[in-house]
Amino acid sequence: MEAATTLLDAEAVGDLVLLDPLTEESLLRTLQERFRRSDIYTYIGDVVISVNPYRPLPIYTPEKVQEYNNCNFFAVKPHIYAIADDAYRSLRDRDRDQCILITGESGAGKTEASKLVMSYVAAVCSKGEEVDKVKEQLLQSNPVLEAFGNAKTIRNDNSSRFGKYMDVEFDFKGEPLGGVISNYLLEKSRIVRHTKGERNFHIFYQLLAGGSAQLLQQLKLRQGSQHYGYLNREKSSLPGMDDAANFRAMQDAMAVIGFSPAEVTALLEVTAVVLKLGNVELSSCYQASGMEACSIAEPRELHEICELIKLDPGTLEQALCSRTVKARDETVLTALSVSQGYYCRDALAKNIYSRLFDWLVNRINTSIQVKPGKQRKVMGVLDIYGFEIFQDNGFEQFIINYCNEKLQQIFILMTLKEEQEEYVREGIKWTPVEFFDNGIICDLIENSKCGILAMLDEECLRPGVVNEDTFVTKLNQLFATHKHYESKETQNAKHVTDLSLPQRCFRIHHYAGKVTYNVTGFIEKNNDLLFRDLSQAMWAARHTLLRSLFPEGDPQKVSLKLPPTAGFQFKNSVATLMKNLYSKNPNYIRCIKPNDTKTAMLFTPELVLAQIRYLGLMENVRVRRAGYAFRQLYSPFLQRYKMLGTKTWPRWSGSDREGTEVLLSELKLPPEELAYGYTKIFIRSPRTLFDLEKRRQERISELATLIQKMFRGWRCRTQYQLMRKSQIIISAWFRGHAQKNKYKQMKRSALLLQAYARGWKVRRMYRRYFRSGASTRLANFIYRRLVQKFLMGLQKNLPPMSVQDRTWPPAPYKFLAGANQELKNIFYHWKCKKYRDQLTPQRKALLQAKLCASELFKDKKTLYSKSLQQPFQGEYLGLTQNPKYQKLHAVAKDKLVMAESVMKVNRANGKTVPRLLLLTTEHLVLADPKAAQPKTVLSLSDIRGVSVTRFSDGLLALHLKETSTAGNKGDLLLVSSHLIELITRLHQTLMAATSQALALHITDQYGRGRGGQRGHGLCGWGLGGWGRVGGVHGVGCMGWGSGWGRIGGS
Ligand SMILES: Nc1ncnc2c1ncn2[C@@H]1O[C@H](COP(=O)(O)OP(=O)(O)O)[C@@H](O)[C@H]1O
Ligand SMILES: [Mg+2]
Repeated sequence: MEAATTLLDAEAVGDLVLLDPLTEESLLRTLQERFRRSDIYTYIGDVVISVNPYRPLPIYTPEKVQEYNNCNFFAVKPHIYAIADDAYRSLRDRDRDQCILITGESGAGKTEASKLVMSYVAAVCSKGEEVDKVKEQLLQSNPVLEAFGNAKTIRNDNSSRFGKYMDVEFDFKGEPLGGVISNYLLEKSRIVRHTKGERNFHIFYQLLAGGSAQLLQQLKLRQGSQHYGYLNREKSSLPGMDDAANFRAMQDAMAVIGFSPAEVTALLEVTAVVLKLGNVELSSCYQASGMEACSIAEPRELHEICELIKLDPGTLEQALCSRTVKARDETVLTALSVSQGYYCRDALAKNIYSRLFDWLVNRINTSIQVKPGKQRKVMGVLDIYGFEIFQDNGFEQFIINYCNEKLQQIFILMTLKEEQEEYVREGIKWTPVEFFDNGIICDLIENSKCGILAMLDEECLRPGVVNEDTFVTKLNQLFATHKHYESKETQNAKHVTDLSLPQRCFRIHHYAGKVTYNVTGFIEKNNDLLFRDLSQAMWAARHTLLRSLFPEGDPQKVSLKLPPTAGFQFKNSVATLMKNLYSKNPNYIRCIKPNDTKTAMLFTPELVLAQIRYLGLMENVRVRRAGYAFRQLYSPFLQRYKMLGTKTWPRWSGSDREGTEVLLSELKLPPEELAYGYTKIFIRSPRTLFDLEKRRQERISELATLIQKMFRGWRCRTQYQLMRKSQIIISAWFRGHAQKNKYKQMKRSALLLQAYARGWKVRRMYRRYFRSGASTRLANFIYRRLVQKFLMGLQKNLPPMSVQDRTWPPAPYKFLAGANQELKNIFYHWKCKKYRDQLTPQRKALLQAKLCASELFKDKKTLYSKSLQQPFQGEYLGLTQNPKYQKLHAVAKDKLVMAESVMKVNRANGKTVPRLLLLTTEHLVLADPKAAQPKTVLSLSDIRGVSVTRFSDGLLALHLKETSTAGNKGDLLLVSSHLIELITRLHQTLMAATSQALALHITDQYGRGRGGQRGHGLCGWGLGGWGRVGGVHGVGCMGWGSGWGRIGGS
């Protein structure tokens, strides 16, 4: 699309071939308009015109490189990358050696263009460690060469002061292998002199600004350019140029290329020597003969130089101040005048520097050269000084312009030849076009017999007095009638008076304009001689590098043959260059300088017009258009315009050529506008192409509308289909979901039914195959196991055997709680039984008695609790021991159960009398204690019952049967201090004797009448009586009195 826009944009057409009408003015306007739009590149066919913008433009980014990589030359915006890409692809894919010819005035942007081409090719060719190293070395040769070969001029702050042609060599894959650099004619006069506002070569300023103190000391230099005569002692720094940084960059670049530190040092030493030579001052003196001579005014600088190059100062001084002349077999040493001395000094400085520069180029070449034997393709990039017209033009301008003339010749011939060849190749009828062939000018200069250079050489070699006047005279004679040669004399002959052409000058009508050359210095510069004394002196130095620069200084190799002249050398090298360029496919970059002041984006039409003229751009366009303004291979042409034909759109099945013919005949274009070549279609005028382009544009918008229509329809359709599909999907999913839910429910029910059925079936099966009590057995087993464990645990963990101890381990399981309790009881009982079993019969009887007492009285009589501590002794009287009681003892015999002393309450008065009470197994005997005679003997069977109170007294009423002998006297009321024991024993004895329990009444109720309460109670005993009993005797148990008191009170 971009190319089409460029093509259709009549005001700023991208290819000047399409200019309509074609005039100098329209061409200039187009360039200006494009320049205004920052489109600095414009084509003339495949030639690129570049107008220097003098400001950085954002069109050299890696993205741009990508954009132009493998681009279609005419399909993208004009760019230097496009031509670089075209050349590189042609080299890689079509195996054609390429050369890129960059021409233009000084400051037009040639060097920048060459760097852009190199960096583009480096960026697009393949990558890899080895390849990258080569690329880096090739690219890094620039800073080094620029440091030594570039200088600030009025036109350009970084003007190349040498011509450079670099062959980059590639292998069959298009990977760079290395290269060769050729340099042409360094402007060495700059070493010793330069115009005000210009500078010497960058390296001197870089060295002084960027060299470390140590380095400068080593080189015996002082910081600051003001100290050096050759640097003009003026302010040297340039805005926007950092000399120190450039020096470091240059050193880095040298390291990348492969300079050893020793080489760098040697290089800088020689550079320093040149600088210091400018400070060698001479003074005049007179010899004895009266001849003027010169001598070193201040030897310090000379000595330092000699120290640097390891040379005897005398040798150098002699070489600078005198000259050896050989006349026949004699050698004579003649002194030089001061001016001659200075001439010598400067000649030496210039020679050293220019030879050093040659050495530098060779040294770089040894690093980047390709090993022989490899098959290679070559891309040459030529960046040579441009055409120069100054106020005062000398030998250098002559040489430079000659070179440009040659390049222009190549340009004209090759473009024309190419064009011509193409028509022939394509079988198109071709009428030759008139164009200016500058061959005649080239011949004027270089003709080996009578060219200007040949004449100059002749003049230089001529013995005798040689000067420029004879040289001009000769030229005037030779070229009196030459169309392109002019001088005062030839003008006079033609009666032309032109004041701008002085004497000692000649003028050549170059292709780019008329240039007037002043012949002064032509011979000397052409001779380019260095006195042998100087070269011998240099050779004598023990500085390896310097010495190697002056091989002719070797006395062994003294030859009387004069070296070839500068002009001759240059002519030869240009011839070689031309041969080299002719053998390659040329690509042109023609640089134009838009203003003289290096101002950004300033376009001076007059200046540009002059360049348009001398660069022959108009001719270029004309030549290009002479035949056909536009040509293209059938395939891309058909591809581009096939939409214009009904038969070719959208697809053409025949050959491309047939398709093109069918298409163009359908479009009814005038037949003279078209020519069909073998492979290309040719269109004569740009108008036709514009017409085609316009139709194409219209057709494209139609097609775009069609595409839009189709697309919109398609989008709506697809949208609808998508929605429909979505709707179907949603309903399908929904239905599916509902069905799934239903199915799940059914499945669940079925499963439930199945489960029941299966369960039932299985249970039936199970019953058949397994015993029904298995689970019970299992449970039993587990139960038994648990019980067993529990019992075993118990066994190990039994509580102590003490009867008092009632502890028992808790049940480990709840279901064992009852059993545990039971076991606890059993254990306790068993413990008690054990205890009982070990008891003696006496103790057993005692305990039985105690037990019996407990049964009788526990919780019934208060006295009982007091009796607990008292052991039942039975015998309290000591019947056996006391002889007094012998009779009583006899009464009791062996049947004595208990013997104690009691108090008997008299029924009549309530008085108490002591009595001895004996209880035997058969009788109860009351005896008088004094007489120890039984007073009352009661048979046990006479006792009807006994009554006691609830209190803690020892009172007891012994109820007797009325039928007994003692009974008719009434019941007995006794007070015993061992009441509990007494009644207990009585009970036991009675039990043993009659098997009848004693009728014991524990009461606090007392009957009044004897008869009324006969069976029970303390009958017949009045209140007063009791009170007396208590009050009078006070015997018996504790609390006796109070007890009675209470009885009395109730
Ligand atoms: N393409 C470009 N873009 C921006 N500036 C440029 C371009 N080409 C040249 N220049 C500017 O012009 C100056 C001179 O260019 P240079 O290539 O050294 O000129 P030449 O080699 O023709 O004498 C450069 O230093 C740079 O500032
Ligand atoms: Mg340059």
